[in-house]
Amino acid sequence: MKSGNESVIAQAATLLREGKTVAIPTETVYGLAANALNADAVLNIFETKNRPHFDPLIVHVGSIAQAQSLSHEISVAARKLMDTFWPGPLTIVLTKKEIIPHIVTSGMDTVGLRMPSHPLTLDLLAQLDFPLAAPSANPFGYISPTSAAHVAEQLGDRIPFILDGGECLVGVESTIIDCTNKISRILRLGGLSVEAIEEVIGPVEINAVSSSSPQAPGMLHSHYAPRKELLLGNIHELLHDHGSDVSILSFRDSYHNYRNIRLSESGDLHEAARNLFAAMRKLDADSHAKIIAEYVPDYGLGRAINDRLKRASYKG
Ligand code: TXA
Ligand code: MG
Repeated sequence: MKSGNESVIAQAATLLREGKTVAIPTETVYGLAANALNADAVLNIFETKNRPHFDPLIVHVGSIAQAQSLSHEISVAARKLMDTFWPGPLTIVLTKKEIIPHIVTSGMDTVGLRMPSHPLTLDLLAQLDFPLAAPSANPFGYISPTSAAHVAEQLGDRIPFILDGGECLVGVESTIIDCTNKISRILRLGGLSVEAIEEVIGPVEINAVSSSSPQAPGMLHSHYAPRKELLLGNIHELLHDHGSDVSILSFRDSYHNYRNIRLSESGDLHEAARNLFAAMRKLDADSHAKIIAEYVPDYGLGRAINDRLKRASYKG
């Protein structure tokens, strides 16, 4: 490890021990972190990102042992998932211990736990004797940040420190799975595919549908949304209907006469996920009136990408 990294990690650790909020890199998206066991520190997170209090936070741990200190009951399925996929883009919902303040879980008796795989954040967690509550580091409802620059643009003047870990390698938020019942249930599609999970624990229920009173507000109809209108469907038809003042977010095809970002020239869904949010931000910031976009193949990470595109396009 370079000494440069050591000193920025130490700086982040000091601020977090003081109860401050710090942006941290993860493999999925950047998080806005604070001491998960300190209710005042956690309150800061909600205020910084204008997040409604009914929306619970994910608690990030540095080890499976730390997860065990936060939950009464780690089911066999949950333990298999931890052993297989942690550190990684999987959040596991379990019953919580009293030590976690109510504000973290919005009063629920369950908590979402995740061990992220970014090396800087794993080092940071190893230096702290508490876990980190962290939502994505964006204003509530907007596109999640996949670089330190994204965080700085929107929250830079509201937080004391951003731990810069480069661009996020997965690019969409973690998959959330509820393991408190006999049959595990996916609450949010994300950076770990359903197929990979089912290989390890067998069939799961998928409950990642939109609702207006959601169990996971990542499930709100409109979320991860650009400011301008995003229209989703067949690009040729949308071009026909909406004229030329548009930019195009395509999966692999190029549109030479238009402002166009392709998610993956080679049709790789991992690359597409990695590029998705940065592309949405770029097109949101350009001069065209609308964004038109298309679905990607609906398997593997494609399901999470399509979920985010749908929510970005939702008109309430
Ligand atoms: O990849 C990620 O998960 C990123 C990085 C920073 O770890 N975090 C993230 O957090 O996406 P956030 O707050 O933007 O989304 C967390 C989602 C929320 O929609 C919340 O409702 C759900 O997790 N959640 C948290 N605790 C829960 C619980 N106990 N039961 C059900 N859903 C929960
Ligand atoms: Mg979020």
